[in-house]
Amino acid sequence: MADETPKHAAASDQLAAIVAEVAACQKCPLAQTRTNTVPGEGSPTAEIMFVGEGPGAEEDRTGRPFVGRAGRFLDELIESLPMRREDVYIANIVKCRPPNNRDPERAEVNECSNYLRRQIDIIDPLVIVPLGRHALGWFMPDLRITASNGKIFRYDNRVLMPLLHPSSGLRNPEHARMLRESIHNLRDAILEGIRFRREVSQPAPPSTAEPEPEPMPPALSPQTQIVEEAEIVAVAATEEPDSSTQPAVNLFERPQSDEEVQAELKRQRAIEEAQEASENETESVEVDDRQFSFF
Ligand code: URA
Ligand code: SF4
Repeated sequence: MADETPKHAAASDQLAAIVAEVAACQKCPLAQTRTNTVPGEGSPTAEIMFVGEGPGAEEDRTGRPFVGRAGRFLDELIESLPMRREDVYIANIVKCRPPNNRDPERAEVNECSNYLRRQIDIIDPLVIVPLGRHALGWFMPDLRITASNGKIFRYDNRVLMPLLHPSSGLRNPEHARMLRESIHNLRDAILEGIRFRREVSQPAPPSTAEPEPEPMPPALSPQTQIVEEAEIVAVAATEEPDSSTQPAVNLFERPQSDEEVQAELKRQRAIEEAQEASENETESVEVDDRQFSFF
């Protein structure tokens, strides 16, 4: 079982050490006003890591990330994949609640960031999902959240797929719809993460020459070709998948070809560009006692 692998056990111990460090942390003024620290939780070997901005009231009360209304919406999104909350890792940029749910200050973010950086190194997910504008800003400050919602970026040996904050989906039905649709792009994000990791571990030769064409099979009569194709289809339909050729992460029914991934990405980009074109430029909503602005 995955839970018993040495990698899982080692990561679990290292994460527990961070939890203990955070619990005792006094590095910034948020330590004075917190009830509980909210270090993060989930699978120590998760392939997907969600990152929010900072704990709200319910998180401060319980010490757990994303357990208020926004958290329940996040759970719904994760379960629609379908995955479980325990299969992913959920953390925040700052581990203590800013009073009155104000945005964390730059100095607080700077003091706290080291914990998140170490969590990412230990968990080593294929895909990081920053939730909302502030979390996205920590990773890639130049991106706009609505423009990059559900899109896939290569970032520091892994893949980033920003999503709107689930709180925004609670107030804005269009954002809820976008979230319910974009969460499924995680499938492509994982595949892109696997591909990226392979490229990093086995860099392509520096040649820019066209690859040699595959040798053509001997010509067959049209009749024979049809029979051969039918046989291939029949074999593909009955053969058990060979586990040695499966990708390291096998979350989905079958690996997608590059063409399929590209076609799907193109389709999604077209949908998102149409959405962006029809969206309001700025909007500010009050959620969970907390002022977020989305744009
Ligand atoms: N919003 C966040 O950004 N993080 C939480 O943990 C809860 C709400
Ligand atoms: Fe420490 Fe981070 Fe909490 Fe500040 S917010 S006290 S840096 S854990």
